[in-house]
Amino acid sequence: MFPERVARTTLPKARGGDSKGLPRRKKSSRLDAYLNRNNSKATAEILSTHTAALFKAAVQRAAELLRAGELVALPTETVYGLAANALDARAVAKIFSAKGRPAHNPIIVHVAGLDMARRCVADWPATAEQLAQAFWPGPLTMVLPRSPEVPDIVTAGGPTVGVRWPSHPFIQAVIRECGFPLAAPSANPANRVSPTNAGHVRQGLGDKVRLIIDGGQSQVGIESTVLDLTVTPPRVLRPGMIHAESLAAAIPEFGVRVLPDGSPGECGVKEKEEGVLRSPGRLPRHYSPKGKLKVLSWRDEAELRAQVSSFKFQTGQAHIIAHTVIPAGLDWKRVSVIPHDAEAFARAIYAELHQGDEVGAELILVEALPDTSEWQAIADRLKRAAA
Ligand code: TXA
Ligand code: MG
Repeated sequence: MFPERVARTTLPKARGGDSKGLPRRKKSSRLDAYLNRNNSKATAEILSTHTAALFKAAVQRAAELLRAGELVALPTETVYGLAANALDARAVAKIFSAKGRPAHNPIIVHVAGLDMARRCVADWPATAEQLAQAFWPGPLTMVLPRSPEVPDIVTAGGPTVGVRWPSHPFIQAVIRECGFPLAAPSANPANRVSPTNAGHVRQGLGDKVRLIIDGGQSQVGIESTVLDLTVTPPRVLRPGMIHAESLAAAIPEFGVRVLPDGSPGECGVKEKEEGVLRSPGRLPRHYSPKGKLKVLSWRDEAELRAQVSSFKFQTGQAHIIAHTVIPAGLDWKRVSVIPHDAEAFARAIYAELHQGDEVGAELILVEALPDTSEWQAIADRLKRAAA
């Protein structure tokens, strides 16, 4: 069904290539040095994409590795993904070991076009078509009955597959070049904060992946909305920047049900169905920075200081992430200001959490967010980071 490029479960035969079966390259590169060293502590090669020539070369290199059954970390508009050929079970297995991801957590399949999306699923209902017309390419993942072509490891053995057509031009170009869909979770060690730039990926997985593509700062900044279309009405499993009201407006005849906040298992949804977690992104603790994170409001800096000491921390241990009441003292570990605007906030928040980790903040205080639908997905991530 994916005729152009057959899923490759073994490395290609070396045709004058190197000992790992990769095609020969004209000049030895840092990647080749990496392969020769075979050193698990080696740092990944990072390729830039900011000129047409660099973009093209990076697409070629990424596709070459992906065809050979290797992993590539690459940009999407939501967060960076750790990609493998979705039709190659052995390649996808490498994702689980690189991330330390539990086998019960299914992986989203990324496509470049509606035809490829339809080939990954056993059923393409009218609602999927309407939603795809409204939101694809973009930060929406639709959960649908899986096609038998999608290996068990991708769906964690479950009957459904999450499919997304991302809008970032780099991943689109790589998928088109490969001719097969890409399985890709966020490119971070399991349960840590998702990466929104290439440096974050190198920090978390630089010794686990050969190639990281630098496609700039992720434009959306938090992970896609995950919508289950196998139930009526469709149900949001993970909120994202495309919120329930927008989804419902695109399929007015059905509406959309949103899982209430809190543990999975609410809303009559069993945590496990056929042994598969419905959406581990709903687990209470997820997306965590190293420091202790709290979301709270403060009238002024004095009240903020009082709260920090009530948590038994010093100001010099605390990273403050504010949008409205911004502390001015010089004794804070770090003060970050993100605009009071949901889209800007989503774009920036993970980078700030990574920064907090970097400077060794032990307490991260995020100024409370407005309680409106545009902020809901950000609030959801912070709640899980704080759990
Ligand atoms: O924006 C995104 O979705 C990013 C970029 C790379 O596309 N990917 C991402 O993947 O966040 P990951 O694996 O970190 O999170 C995917 C979430 C998980 O909570 C997973 O359980 C859920 O989607 N998921 C994937 N397939 C599913 C399925 N068949 N049924 C229910 N949930 C699924
Ligand atoms: Mg993730």
